[in-house]
Amino acid sequence: MAKRYHESDIPEAAAALKRGELVAFPTETVYGLGADATNVTAVSKVYAAKGRPSDNPLIVTVADAAMVSQYAKITPDAAKLMDTFWPGPLTIILNILPGRLSMKVTGGLQTAAFRNPDDALTRKLIATAGVPIVGPSANTSGKPSPTTADHVLHDLADKIAGVLDDGPTRVGVESTIIDLTVTPPDIFRPGAIGPHELEPLLGPVDSAAHHVGKNEAPKAPGMKYKHYAPAAQVVVVDTIDQFDDAVAWAKKTGQAFGLLATEPILAHFPDVPSYSLGQDITSATHALFAGLRWFDLHPDVTLVLAQAFSHSELSAAYMNRLLKSAGNMHYQPNMPTDRF
Ligand code: TXA
Ligand code: MG
Repeated sequence: MAKRYHESDIPEAAAALKRGELVAFPTETVYGLGADATNVTAVSKVYAAKGRPSDNPLIVTVADAAMVSQYAKITPDAAKLMDTFWPGPLTIILNILPGRLSMKVTGGLQTAAFRNPDDALTRKLIATAGVPIVGPSANTSGKPSPTTADHVLHDLADKIAGVLDDGPTRVGVESTIIDLTVTPPDIFRPGAIGPHELEPLLGPVDSAAHHVGKNEAPKAPGMKYKHYAPAAQVVVVDTIDQFDDAVAWAKKTGQAFGLLATEPILAHFPDVPSYSLGQDITSATHALFAGLRWFDLHPDVTLVLAQAFSHSELSAAYMNRLLKSAGNMHYQPNMPTDRF
């Protein structure tokens, strides 16, 4: 059975990593599933534990920027980003030095994604282990990313040595991923750090890649898989005015349904099972994955009406994850009630 490690257990957790075992760790975004990035057998266990497709490369999580220089060339732009945003929710893709990282980590690419999380316990864990750790989100592949140690144990308790518990995560969605191996730099995955913070340092950045059309290959291999999906069908309600109609529609389907929305909306529907997204986009981003997981604990609910936020840099990460969890299904007036 997996252990719950606290700060005083970091030497024990680091020893487990060094033995090739899996240790889940906290970050400011979501919990990660750690293994010694220099141990191929340990890295293989990560794919098996998550049920993750093996062509999907892993993030290399480091204790500090100096650790990166053993594996990749740090360009001037990379150095600027590391100085400004690390530790923090920005993952940087760099060209790797030949032969320094296993194909199991890179998925055979000549690049790797590096991340220095803003969680002091995790940086201490990595520094104590003395090796970088791979760090995909610590969920079963396809399920919402974990924002508490309990979420991790729910998915992986029988597959890991333990989880370092540092309470609920602060941001709630995964890091921004920026590729510095292309010109202009390209944001692969929207997160807490947006273009307006990156462009003063880098000049114009591209962020088209995460809006890929159906037939294009997404640049971050992981983006092509079904993601964040609870057992229930999530239906995105685009505007606040549509909630009355959407609830009327959900009633007509005859299915048990729930709401994932902010307090002002929930106040109108006191009798519907609901998970609160708090008051605004920041609290909603923080609560999104926990909310999706909450509905999995209520399997009677088979339809979830979830609140959209209008487009802004702040809402980009929330909407990106929500639309994936919904398989892109939006509520529309006159939607049929029998197909659900
Ligand atoms: O916030 C986060 O980034 C969390 C925490 C735990 O650090 N980690 C995380 O890892 O979200 P994961 O594996 O769930 O998502 C990493 C994404 C995947 O879509 C993967 O395909 C992509 O990064 N990726 C990794 N290495 C890459 C590379 N060299 N080139 C392009 N995409 C890469
Ligand atoms: Mg993930």
